[in-house]
Amino acid sequence: MTRAAPEDFALVAELYDQDMAGNNLVHDLVYPRVYGPGEYIGQFSDNSASELRALAAAMDLAPDSAVLDIGCGTAPVAAFLAGEFGWRITGIDVAASPLRKAAQRLTEAGLADRVSLAHGDVYRHGFAAPFDGIYGTGAFCHFDPARLFARCHELLRPGGRLAFMERVRTGELSEQEWRQLTVEWACPTVNTVPEYREALSGAGFAVDVVQDLTPTFRDWQDRSVIVRHELKAEIIALTSAEYFETSVRLADYENAVTKAGKLGYALVTATAR
Ligand SMILES: C[S@@+](CC[C@H](N)C(=O)[O-])C[C@H]1O[C@@H](n2cnc3c(N)ncnc32)[C@H](O)[C@@H]1O
Repeated sequence: MTRAAPEDFALVAELYDQDMAGNNLVHDLVYPRVYGPGEYIGQFSDNSASELRALAAAMDLAPDSAVLDIGCGTAPVAAFLAGEFGWRITGIDVAASPLRKAAQRLTEAGLADRVSLAHGDVYRHGFAAPFDGIYGTGAFCHFDPARLFARCHELLRPGGRLAFMERVRTGELSEQEWRQLTVEWACPTVNTVPEYREALSGAGFAVDVVQDLTPTFRDWQDRSVIVRHELKAEIIALTSAEYFETSVRLADYENAVTKAGKLGYALVTATAR
């Protein structure tokens, strides 16, 4: 596949800074209904809280472990996992606007001493490494996996654990589908599981677990379209008719590509050799 574009974090930052205000409001309205009771914790990734808990359990790290959340966004996952697993988490994000909400979330939850935040690019930021674990939820799609995993390997102690949940390509995408899933989201490519495996072993990781989360992903995608239509009036009142139309269009095409068997979801864990 030669269609991959270079990473562009200026574009990523612009995307999340721009869309954040409307996105947050709509997310908080739509996703409690998509995931069901107790399963929405503010996450932007396509996972329920139970799936996020499974990712952390698979990392198998002791309380007080030093863990890096790459692309933490508003830090819902960092707050959730610091609370449930007792980790000391550093969350990093290139976009400033989600980090402002993250800081507020952590203060309100009394977790500001367990989760610290860094504004910047994970390749350039100087961390107090090594970490015992690194994870990303819905963020690794913005990266070239070979380069990202090499950076993760550099930041982890030997035997440190890496985990991520991400969309994966499971079929041949048309030019239009490719553009919608990459260019529109500032993602260089949509990787397959074998591509992720190859990048991990090339960067010095042993792959431990690859779990196919496509069946639940398909449910979340389906429900995301249904719930948006159910809440049309509320979404328009919070944002605008134009925002509603765009958000339904995005949800619709992702749902169609997923239903066609071309897009799936995976949980991957690996250990730094
Ligand atoms: C879909 S959001 C996921 C946020 C969060 N992990 C969650 O599950 O709610 C992806 C995030 O990755 C961040 N990101 C992308 N590239 C990055 C980089 N090079 N360094 C740090 N953060 C990055 C984006 O700014 C964005 O906030």
